[in-house]
Amino acid sequence: MPDDILAVFADALPGHIENQNRYSPSTAENDPGPLFSTLELRTSRNTISAWPGYQPTPLIRLPGLARYLNVREIRYKDEGARFGLGSFKALGGAYAVYSLLASNPDRSAITVTTATDGNHGLSVAWGAESAGCRCVIFIHEKVSAGRERALKSKGADVIRIDGNYDESVRQCYRAAAANDWIVISDTSKDDSGNEVARVVMAGYSVMVAEIIEQLAGDVPTHVFVQGGVGGLAATVCECFHLAWGEAAPRFVIVEPELAPCLFESCKKGERVATDVVEETVMAGLSCGEVSAIAWPTLCRFTDDFLTIPDFVVAPTMRLLADGPFFDPPIVAGESAVAGLAGLICSSRHASLASALQLDQASRVLVIGTEGATDQALYESMTGLSVRSVQRASI
Ligand SMILES: Cc1ncc(COP(=O)(O)O)c(C=O)c1O
Repeated sequence: MPDDILAVFADALPGHIENQNRYSPSTAENDPGPLFSTLELRTSRNTISAWPGYQPTPLIRLPGLARYLNVREIRYKDEGARFGLGSFKALGGAYAVYSLLASNPDRSAITVTTATDGNHGLSVAWGAESAGCRCVIFIHEKVSAGRERALKSKGADVIRIDGNYDESVRQCYRAAAANDWIVISDTSKDDSGNEVARVVMAGYSVMVAEIIEQLAGDVPTHVFVQGGVGGLAATVCECFHLAWGEAAPRFVIVEPELAPCLFESCKKGERVATDVVEETVMAGLSCGEVSAIAWPTLCRFTDDFLTIPDFVVAPTMRLLADGPFFDPPIVAGESAVAGLAGLICSSRHASLASALQLDQASRVLVIGTEGATDQALYESMTGLSVRSVQRASI
């Protein structure tokens, strides 16, 4: 039975590049310096942990799957319950809205805006609703109706454009310039957008601080984390290096084959844009351009870049839901599982596993960045109701 479940992963050999530009102490002159100051990290933690409803999300052990993949340990950070918004993104956009408006007495005169495939926009809309300012969200043509409804439920005006995510970003910036709105972006094209995107990432750092505490000194050997524009990955590897220095885990970024902007940038040795011609099912990772603020950190600390095909996504979601190796059932959305799928695919191919130094001693961390943020989509991809999986996990 488990062999059947994992068979599909043997058909998926991930694309792999090892980062040749990785920072080492001998090339210290290329060091871009830290992304965050200690004060910024402390402030985001103190602020967000004081918000109503704050609770650290769980770090779950998957010993059954670890045994099956022949690694020593797998830990899964489950962001499904984050502030009732369903993803780690709840920490970023809302924190940037909060930070920008904290000192502004007349918030009702302010409009914030962003482009989104769902999660980031929901965070911005939630932050705007809490702050009492207006919010306009741009979504592209493939964003699901469920995600559009969720944005509206937080009081946002939603504009659906023709075209892909990158086009929605362009239209958002145009409208912001014409109307004097504030763009709360989770990515930056150049230095001018860096500051807001950096504050968003400082919000994500709260999740990383939780992980470091939950690990209680048990530093993993590997981290597999999914990449969209790279803001999440940059935050994770930056904070791990701050915490553990040279003892930080091997850092592996996993992207969809259909949207490999980080992978391609590594190949070229510089940040390059790629065209998203066909939408990946991993909607949150469907990005053609790496965030400018994230890239120097990623280039410095990432060890490996992987790409995975879409056909392993639903089986990974299903595997987490079923817990076939007697692990606790987990509800994970389609953009949550790329890291884990990358790990499973790598472990099924001996040459890749060896290139990544994955073996029986490996202790692997993956970050389940969202729960079922679109329930209808979750149910159509897994054939399971969210409720039934949640009930089984109690
Ligand atoms: C659930 C989920 N995981 C991962 C990511 C990737 O984050 P980033 O775009 O910062 O790389 C996103 C982005 O929207 C997301 O929604």
